[in-house]
Amino acid sequence: MKKISAILSMLAVVFNMAAVSITSPDGNLVLNFELTPNGVPYYTLDYKNKPVVTASALGLKSDQLDLTDGFHIVSTDTASVDRTWEPVWGEYSTIRDNFNELAVNLAGNEGKRGLTIRFKLFNDGLGFRYELPVQKGPNHLTVKDEVTEFNFNDNHKLFCIPGDYDTDEYLWSETNFTDLSKALSSYRKHSEAQRAGGLSIQTPMLIKTNDGLYINIHEAALDGYPAMLLDVDPEKYSMKSHLVPDRLGVSAYLQMPFNTPWRTLIVSDDARDILASQLVLNLNEPCKIEDTSWIKPVKYIGVWWEMFTGNQKTWAYSDYGLAKPGVTDYTKLTPNGRHPANTENVKKYIDFAAKHGFDGVLVEGWNEGWEDWGSYRKNRQFLFDKPYPDFDLPLLRDYAKEKGVKLIMHHETAANAADYELQLDRAFKFMKDNNYDAVKTGYVGAIIPRSEHHTSQWMVDHARHVIERAADYQIMVDSHEAPRPTGLCRTYPNWLAQESARGGEFESMGGNPPSHTCMLPFTRLKGGPMDYTPGLFETKMSYYNEGKDSQAGTTIARQLALYLTMPSPWQMACDLPENYDRFPDAFQFIKDVPVDWSDSKYLEAEPNQYITVARLDKNSDDWYVGAITDENGRTATIDFNFLPKDGTYTATIYEDAPDAHWKDNPQAYRIRTVKVKHGTKLKQPLAPGGGAAIRIVKN
Ligand code: NOJ
Ligand code: CA
Repeated sequence: MKKISAILSMLAVVFNMAAVSITSPDGNLVLNFELTPNGVPYYTLDYKNKPVVTASALGLKSDQLDLTDGFHIVSTDTASVDRTWEPVWGEYSTIRDNFNELAVNLAGNEGKRGLTIRFKLFNDGLGFRYELPVQKGPNHLTVKDEVTEFNFNDNHKLFCIPGDYDTDEYLWSETNFTDLSKALSSYRKHSEAQRAGGLSIQTPMLIKTNDGLYINIHEAALDGYPAMLLDVDPEKYSMKSHLVPDRLGVSAYLQMPFNTPWRTLIVSDDARDILASQLVLNLNEPCKIEDTSWIKPVKYIGVWWEMFTGNQKTWAYSDYGLAKPGVTDYTKLTPNGRHPANTENVKKYIDFAAKHGFDGVLVEGWNEGWEDWGSYRKNRQFLFDKPYPDFDLPLLRDYAKEKGVKLIMHHETAANAADYELQLDRAFKFMKDNNYDAVKTGYVGAIIPRSEHHTSQWMVDHARHVIERAADYQIMVDSHEAPRPTGLCRTYPNWLAQESARGGEFESMGGNPPSHTCMLPFTRLKGGPMDYTPGLFETKMSYYNEGKDSQAGTTIARQLALYLTMPSPWQMACDLPENYDRFPDAFQFIKDVPVDWSDSKYLEAEPNQYITVARLDKNSDDWYVGAITDENGRTATIDFNFLPKDGTYTATIYEDAPDAHWKDNPQAYRIRTVKVKHGTKLKQPLAPGGGAAIRIVKN
């Protein structure tokens, strides 16, 4: 390899050769890099001789340096890598990292500008990034535009959500290039370009080409740089990177040397390969935490859904608007009597967790500040070491410890990220002093500093800072309303999960159609696990409030299957304890299901329609299967060839009853057992909006 590289470099210099290609290890993908006569870098990508990406430009523009044209190739380096690594938790106990690499070293302006573009071509896709070496010219850049293009040759199908600088909590559109404008017409517009009719979408997004290829576009290792959206030109079937800017219009402030995040394309003609791909993790740096023994997957319940189901329950201790500014002594406030984060109630949750074997209890609304929600200045709204008067922390700390359950901390920052940084050390120390080792963070509202967005460079830096400080304190983190994950959980495995998409909570606010969870694994989950909060057994909000018509797009059996199809080492059983007591046999599956796996086999998949997956428990020989469908009923085919060849197994199947339906009959389920072995094929009916969950134990 080294020799070839040397020869290529020599040729490049001698003949000013402007085209270089590499193939994936299995030969299916071909990446071609070229320069136009004007020295504009561009690339193409083919899969099994079909075009994936047609000629697409590469480069960056900053106020100080234009890195988009006038280049020549100085040299190229190539390498082939085949190695494995072991994640601390995840879908697989071992991950293969196998790719061919090409680095193209470019120069322009008589050597005054340098840029390396590095490509890694895997069997399951491509990653590439810009590497900015120390320059002979300016070394501090204010980047306004990255001109990375993703051009296509046809009016492909697109699965996407609108390009929003601040939220990703949207339902998915299934559309195509020419219908995109219609699909996104009702969403708010964030930039001048969007307001003028320009179309942006977020990553991860998925394309299905007209000749049957699936392409996921995202980024990996987003660090020190803003998140990337995609500006779409529907007539040209093309997309261009759109970096989230601050309010000055600057996207990234960089000091050289600097490597951008990887731009990623996961490609296959088999939808299951998109779900199985570990490409985004492979493009992240190895784990930076030396001792990871304290990082443990978590199955938890929480004082949480009570506030969503209504009956006027509040995170606040007293009525909203009563405290601050001015109020410093919360004991002087009148309690509203609708505050679930109180000592007695939390004790009940701890008892329930202990009885049913959960690791933790999340308690939201435990600390001062909720009354002040929405105040204009939000100047230190929340204090992270000040429990409300009715939350007896020393008592609860000791009670939880005695019962072998961990309390889980909640830090809602109301998006005052700057103030959170100031309180961070005190907040984490307070956690450790009170025996907490995991925190759910949240950033609801407009980010403070006000010049920033949820996914701009400053917030990407903030998220990394919080995760690193948490690691110093041996604290695990689940972040909500943070920049979308890009596989950094490989480097910082204490980052167990994120929200960063429309989660289960929306079942109380309009509902999530069944297709929603048939889409997230193809898109959002490619960046990392999601705190989706499955386990909803009471699916009609009218159960709590007459007249509230919100209804979950799910059956009970499907909720069980989500523990398999939405894999996460941080998994909630979201419903109220009393609802689990109503369905104890179905609840047994939630108690049994692991949250960490040593192997995973995707058996069936089609985006927005269905997913069937089998997983092997990391801590036993038990297998589990989850199958879900969209609003159409279907029969899943479960081929048990994932089982070892010898032995017979008992499969306990939690399935929709024959008359189950997400809308009219969501709580109709059956539990049956069958004997299975390697070679067994099971036809498993799934109700409209339904699913099936199976536990498979060796006899
Ligand atoms: C939004 C989060 O997604 C939700 O889980 C949390 O309960 C609320 N913010 C309050 O912090
Ligand atoms: Ca949220």
